[in-house]
Amino acid sequence: LTVAVLISGTGSNLRALLEAASDPGFPARIVVVGADREAEGLAHAEDFGIPSFTVPWSAHESREAWGAELDAQLRVWRPDLIVLSGLMRLLPAAVVAAWAPRIINTHPAYLPEFPGAHGVRDALAAGAAQTGASVIVVDDGVDTGPILAQERVDVLADDTEHTLHERIKPVERRLLIDVVRAIATGELVLGSGARPSEPSA
Ligand code: GRF
Repeated sequence: LTVAVLISGTGSNLRALLEAASDPGFPARIVVVGADREAEGLAHAEDFGIPSFTVPWSAHESREAWGAELDAQLRVWRPDLIVLSGLMRLLPAAVVAAWAPRIINTHPAYLPEFPGAHGVRDALAAGAAQTGASVIVVDDGVDTGPILAQERVDVLADDTEHTLHERIKPVERRLLIDVVRAIATGELVLGSGARPSEPSA
């Protein structure tokens, strides 16, 4: 299974995926990393000798124009799966339509709780005792696609957005690696509609 990973930030989840995929036994191969800016996380791709591209958000007049350029880049690599891992942009409907259901996303909350760009901050603000991490199929909503895997993460009384997010990320990484592995082995079939009987072990 060939995978393209799209990021905007530090790419710690990307790094975990690169490390997992560097195991010869891992059934998926990351073929390219894309970003909407000069993301720090692109350095991880370089460390692992994986090609990368940027489609700078700031260089485009509209989400659609940006999306068209992103789509053109993705067509060069023709990945079997696209992983959004900290991409802080909503994909235009045309890009989702072109690639769905082969786009998955990691989100640092227990969806459908706290969707959107500030899931960690929103959980804290809501005084939630628990939040979580989720891996979903991307549809043209905001974090509304079928849930492939999710797990609860406790919120501690003295948590800040940073400490809580850093506690969520390792869970996200484990779920993401498990889901990519399950898709690669055929254990999980995207677009089958059915939610797996249980999150991949
Ligand atoms: C992750 O929690 C991801 O789910 C969210 O932003 C964070 C990205 O972290 N969208 P990193 O760039 O992988 O360190």
